[in-house]
Amino acid sequence: MAPWRLPLLVALLWGWLLASSSSPSTVAPPQDLQITDPGLLGSLDVEWKPPPHAQTLQECTVKYKLEYHSTGDRDWKVIFTRKLKLRVGFDLSRTAEVRLQTLLKGRCTGDVEVQSDWIYATFQIPPQGTLESEVQNFKCIYHDWEYLKCTWQPGLLTPRGAHYGLYYWYEGLEQTMQCAQYIQEHGLNLGCVLHNLSQAEYRDLHICVNGSAAGTQLRPLYSTLRLHNLAQPSAPEQLQLSLSAAQELRAAWSPPGGRVPPHCLEYEVQVAEDAAAWAFVSTQMETAVTISRANQSHVSCVRVRGRTNIFCADQGFWSEWTQDCFSVPRKEDKQLFILIPVILSLTISLIIFMLIGQCKKRSPAGKPLQTSVGF
Ligand SMILES: *[C@@H]1O[C@H](CO)[C@@H](O)[C@H](O)[C@H]1NC(C)=O
Ligand SMILES: *[C@@H]1O[C@H](CO)[C@@H](O)[C@H](O)[C@H]1NC(C)=O
Ligand SMILES: *[C@@H]1O[C@H](CO)[C@@H](O)[C@H](O)[C@H]1NC(C)=O
Repeated sequence: MAPWRLPLLVALLWGWLLASSSSPSTVAPPQDLQITDPGLLGSLDVEWKPPPHAQTLQECTVKYKLEYHSTGDRDWKVIFTRKLKLRVGFDLSRTAEVRLQTLLKGRCTGDVEVQSDWIYATFQIPPQGTLESEVQNFKCIYHDWEYLKCTWQPGLLTPRGAHYGLYYWYEGLEQTMQCAQYIQEHGLNLGCVLHNLSQAEYRDLHICVNGSAAGTQLRPLYSTLRLHNLAQPSAPEQLQLSLSAAQELRAAWSPPGGRVPPHCLEYEVQVAEDAAAWAFVSTQMETAVTISRANQSHVSCVRVRGRTNIFCADQGFWSEWTQDCFSVPRKEDKQLFILIPVILSLTISLIIFMLIGQCKKRSPAGKPLQTSVGF
């Protein structure tokens, strides 16, 4: 070994030792992870404390990676944060699960990101009532982007005289609100209409339907809604059918009025020719379509319905159909159209001729009568 190589080796070794001692290859996880329920029907507070010795890592930034979901969801939602408290939404009918790790990066780690182990926490609403007392067939539709109508039916095992209540909350409301307009059947609250929800659009709307009967609590139902995915527009308006120059059927209509954003709609068009079954024509965003009349049909009916398109929502409900029919004048009909006025005018002139003839016959007989009076 050449003599100059030894100091170099020692220096390298020193350098490696120094580097490895100053850059931690591990970091501790955060501490005291806790989930608490502020009573907002699904929005839970997640809190934790920094890892021990976090303050000593001055040349590095400490961040946290929070992953959360409700039991049964396949995916985890991910949040990166430097805060120590977050409010996140869960479906309270299931167990809320959270996992958290520390992320460390900066000069102290040689600009390499170091991750800690995970810590975990779960949260579950203390169960109330039997599972069979929970309301069934809970459904909601956001009509015309104007009001939300939710309906339900009593649970399978519900004592007589149950009293149900619907409560809701979304980000922006100071506290949970109760439904102000119930839909009742035989004195039972079996639905609710909520107005003025534009602030809740494109956010989580947390809903709880709970109740009591004969002094016992019923199992509450929790649901987290996305209004734009529950929208149902009114039927399209002013459907008009006409014939194009090329003898094709042209249908045009207007989007329904109200708060529905027209760019959020798509339409399905169907046609029925000469009383045949409805046949699919197209699904489209435009408000007009040209339909070829392959069979030179006589009567064509067109119907159109609308729903929210994929640019505004993941799903939605179809509106009612708007329908109109159009009779295409046949060739024979056209000849008839020309014939009818001709026949009519001929008949009229014939009648006039006959009348004039009658008058002329009578007038000679009338004259002698007048002259006799003159005597
Ligand atoms: C609708 O809600 C807003 C607050 O979000 C409120 O100021 C307004 O009075 C409400 N309108 C009606 C008609 O309830
Ligand atoms: C239903 O839930 C609301 C909101 O959490 C609560 O204020 C109310 O006391 C509950 N009612 C029953 C019968 O559990
Ligand atoms: C045209 O007529 C044929 C045979 O009668 C039928 O199968 C077809 O569906 C008709 N087309 C339209 C658009 O009605």
